[in-house]
Amino acid sequence: MPPFLADALARVKPSPTIAVTTKAAELKAAGRDVIGLGAGEPDFDTPANIKAAGIRAIEEGRTKYTPVDGIPELKRAICAKFERENGLSYEPAQVTVGTGGKQVLYNAFMATLNPGDEVIIPAPYWVSYPDMVLLAGGEPVVVAAALETGFKITPEQLEAAITERTKWFLFNSPSNPTGAGYSREELKALTEVLMRHPHVHVMTDDMYEHLTFGDFTFCTPAEVEPGLYERTLTVNGVSKAYAMTGWRIGYAAGPKELIGAMRKIQSQSTSNPCSISQWAAVEALDGPQDFIAPNRALFERRRDLVVAGLNACPGITCPVPEGAFYVYPDISGCIGKTSPGGAAITDDEAFATALLEEENVAVVFGAAFGLSPNFRVSYATSDAALTEACARIKRFCEGLS
Ligand SMILES: Cc1ncc(COP(=O)(O)O)c(C=O)c1O
Repeated sequence: MPPFLADALARVKPSPTIAVTTKAAELKAAGRDVIGLGAGEPDFDTPANIKAAGIRAIEEGRTKYTPVDGIPELKRAICAKFERENGLSYEPAQVTVGTGGKQVLYNAFMATLNPGDEVIIPAPYWVSYPDMVLLAGGEPVVVAAALETGFKITPEQLEAAITERTKWFLFNSPSNPTGAGYSREELKALTEVLMRHPHVHVMTDDMYEHLTFGDFTFCTPAEVEPGLYERTLTVNGVSKAYAMTGWRIGYAAGPKELIGAMRKIQSQSTSNPCSISQWAAVEALDGPQDFIAPNRALFERRRDLVVAGLNACPGITCPVPEGAFYVYPDISGCIGKTSPGGAAITDDEAFATALLEEENVAVVFGAAFGLSPNFRVSYATSDAALTEACARIKRFCEGLS
């Protein structure tokens, strides 16, 4: 009998970050005092003005199907956002809105990848990138960034990874899982490579644009190198900046042909993103932006707390990231040891498993993000939880023998 499930499924794995979050929640429900550092979402509520816009949309009956890739009002607000914050001019026909940035990225891969097409993905990467590429029938080409370069790839590495089959270069700054952000000069050096290879398109995932710290300034490829504008898909969303993960709105702007192809795919899958959420997103983009700065300051303080806490643990080296709400410590110094509870710490997955079992701290192991031995901490949680988690990790590391 032919198999019931599609062959494509054998190429992908379920999201490990969602698995860790689920496991931590289960243990918590069973009465264990677990501190979950796995979640990829802000720990505060959607701002009141945005919630009110959603409620208004319901009350005004904006509860029907909408145009496939977004209501005109939201597309206009997105064009205004790109102009205002990124110096990029787009018209509404160049804009698509989807059910989260995740669907937008997925649509783009589905719309463009043929068997054998390659997508360059710097590692550590967001867990979904390689699997989305595989599901769409393409080939992920992973380029590992080093701890020494702050988890950023070099122009030489990018140049070496490009082949005639390269369709996309996938760029994510600030990054999930490392928080690493490319400076304008660092990004410019990458765009110079891309300018030499006109067949390579650029997909930039700017989801963490507003979560940057200190004097780091966010920049995006088409802005840094206008010569790339015609072949860049600039992806963004409201999930992280506006604490709207559950509303499921992401968007992108790029070449009309690509946007049209993505629309075709969306028209045969989800039809359109939630109408109510679209109206809330209009308010997020057009409304007051004054809560972004305090949130950024809050996350920066937590970053400093966690980086200091982890660097005090024997065997751990934690670089200081430029943005997002993650750190990605290196645990080379812990590998090959035995945990206080007797577990062999053979790799980062064994480390994370033992840490959860013995100290009730849930982190995501580095292999999930394509670079080991590391783990990812999401510091989108309270100062008290972070302080206690760092103390537990320290005790765990001090007990390694
Ligand atoms: C790097 C990155 N891109 C995209 C997304 C998707 O966000 P959403 O689908 O909520 O817009 C996430 C969420 O975790 C992310 O971390």
